Amino acid sequence: MSRLDDLKIKIFADGANLDKIRVLAKNPMVKGFTTNPTLMKKDGVTDYEDFAREIIAAVPDFPVSLEVFADDFDEMIAQGRAIASWGSNVNVKVPVMNTKGEFAGKVIEVLSSEGAVLNVTAIMTVEQVEKIAAVLNPNASAIISVFAGRIADTGVDPLQVMEDCKAALKGHPKAELLWASPRELLNVFHADQVGCQIITVTDDLLKKLALVDKDLDLYSRETVQMFYNDAASSSFSIQTA
Ligand code: G3P
Repeated sequence: MSRLDDLKIKIFADGANLDKIRVLAKNPMVKGFTTNPTLMKKDGVTDYEDFAREIIAAVPDFPVSLEVFADDFDEMIAQGRAIASWGSNVNVKVPVMNTKGEFAGKVIEVLSSEGAVLNVTAIMTVEQVEKIAAVLNPNASAIISVFAGRIADTGVDPLQVMEDCKAALKGHPKAELLWASPRELLNVFHADQVGCQIITVTDDLLKKLALVDKDLDLYSRETVQMFYNDAASSSFSIQTA
C-alpha cells in the first residue's frame, strides 16, 4: 500500500506542451490540465486559440483550464464566454484582478452566473478568497487557485493561508480549492492535509511521485554511489600523505 493511495487530492498537470499533455493523459495520477499565457509563451505557442482548441481535443475527457488575458472586465467576460464555448471540458481561468489591481468581481459574478466553470487564478490572500466567495454563484462548480508556492517564496508559510482559504469557501460546497505553484513534492501531501481538492503539478514534480515510499537507507546509498561514480568518472584525485 503506497502513501499515494491514501491521497484524496486530484493532481492536475500544469504546462503548455502538447506532446507532454498527451503522454500525461495516460498517467492514472493525472486528473486534469491547466495552463496559462506565461507557460504558453515559454513553450513557443503563437496562436492562442488554435493551441487551446488542440489541447481540448487532445484530452476531451479531462478538465482543461484556459485563461482569459484581456485587462478590461467587459473584454474578459467576452473572452471567457468564447473560451467556455470551445468545449464542455473547459474551465475558464480568470485572474483575480486586472493589471491595475482592480478586483475582477464583475467577471467572476457574470460568468459564474451564466454557468461557466471558472478557475479563479493568481490568488495569494485570504481576503481575495473572501471577496470571490461574496460574488461567486454558490450553485456553480468552480476552482479557486491559490498560489501557495509564490506565497512561500515570500517567506510566509502557505499552510495556514490555505487552511483559512478553505474556511472562506465554506458557503461554496461546489468550489474546489487548488494549491497552485507547488515548490516540492511534499506539497502534494501538505495540500491534501489541509483539504485542498486539487493541486497543479509541473512535469518535473510529477516525475518525483516515483520517489514516494522510497526506502531512505537505499536512497542514501544511491546518493553516495552517485558521488562516488561522478568523482571516479571525473578522475578526481587528492594527494594524501
Ligand atoms: O499554475 C501556477 C503556475 O503556473 C505558476 O507557477 O511556479 O511560476 O509560481 P510558478
